Amino acid sequence: MTASKHLIALLKSHIARDDDQFLSIAMQVAAHEARKGHGQVAQQLRELVDQARSGKVEHSRRPVPIAQPKGDLAALVAVSFSDTRLKSMALPDELEQRLKRVIVEQRQQHKILERGLEPRRKLLLVGPPGSGKTMTASALAGELHLPLFTVIFDTLITRFMGETASKLRIIFEAMLKTRGVYFFDEFDAIGSRRSERNDVGEIRRVLNSFLQFLEKDDSGSLILAATNHVELLDPALFRRFDDVIQYELPDEDVTLKILQTRLLGFDTDKVSWSRAVELTSGLSQAEISRAADEAVKRAILTDRTNITNEDLSASIRERRSAVHK
Ligand SMILES: Nc1ncnc2c1ncn2[C@@H]1O[C@H](COP(=O)(O)OP(=O)(O)OP(=O)(O)O)[C@@H](O)[C@H]1O
Ligand SMILES: [Mg+2]
Repeated sequence: MTASKHLIALLKSHIARDDDQFLSIAMQVAAHEARKGHGQVAQQLRELVDQARSGKVEHSRRPVPIAQPKGDLAALVAVSFSDTRLKSMALPDELEQRLKRVIVEQRQQHKILERGLEPRRKLLLVGPPGSGKTMTASALAGELHLPLFTVIFDTLITRFMGETASKLRIIFEAMLKTRGVYFFDEFDAIGSRRSERNDVGEIRRVLNSFLQFLEKDDSGSLILAATNHVELLDPALFRRFDDVIQYELPDEDVTLKILQTRLLGFDTDKVSWSRAVELTSGLSQAEISRAADEAVKRAILTDRTNITNEDLSASIRERRSAVHK
């Protein structure tokens, strides 16, 4: 490869935020320099790559200073840095494929953009409470190494009555400046509060401005909105998203995967999985995770390293009665 080809490859991997690719190209450059007899340059490059590789973990945990919201923005969004991965989620195949497609399109967006096309990045997540919508926002931010900015719609509407449209503008402007995952949680505030007399006008205004901003937005940021009440949302809304992603209560496979992942590291030889799965029927992914955690607590507080059917069934029943209160 020539120097300019190397430079192009470096830039492409930078745009795709692909650190491994970036560093392996740098190593190719080092090898190239060594072949040309530039030993010192080659050595310096290798040392820098080593340094980057050894410092990578620490570096990725450090908050990116530019992403810390300042001024007005600070009151509107909460920023976090996620290390959640898609593989820590138990997902039905189809849903997993859809999320993977978002990640692949983002990671290789240069190929798509070069062709004048757009990678998917405006997503509406729809599904019952506790089915993994917020966790998905975290997992996408984690996989793409992007900061996660969470906007609580309900707070936005109640706290800034009358000025929500101008506050939304601030958020959409931030998307241009700082690439990230912008997560509008409790998006149903727009739909479900429509019946409250005083809010109707305001909510309609907010919805309309959100749709306009969403349509106009050409930042590279991911825009995610989550809702429990799809039936309350205006059909006009769906068209503005690149994808509407549906979440359901867990099937048996997903339930089993959540239980087994949460109980990893404990002796579960005596557990009847089919019975545990049966007992969880109707519970959400969040409730099942909590039940598994409670079973773990029962074991560790009695100094055991094994989980029994009794640990699990008692914890699941407890969750069930908490939910149905
Ligand atoms: N698919 C999943 N795989 C593994 N754990 C999950 C999954 N979905 C949810 N959980 C667990 O449940 C917790 C709560 O889920 P999450 O907050 O993502 O639900 P949600 O859909 O956003 O709910 P809500 O509508 O109430 O905001 C997660 O932090 C995680 O521990
Ligand atoms: Mg949520």
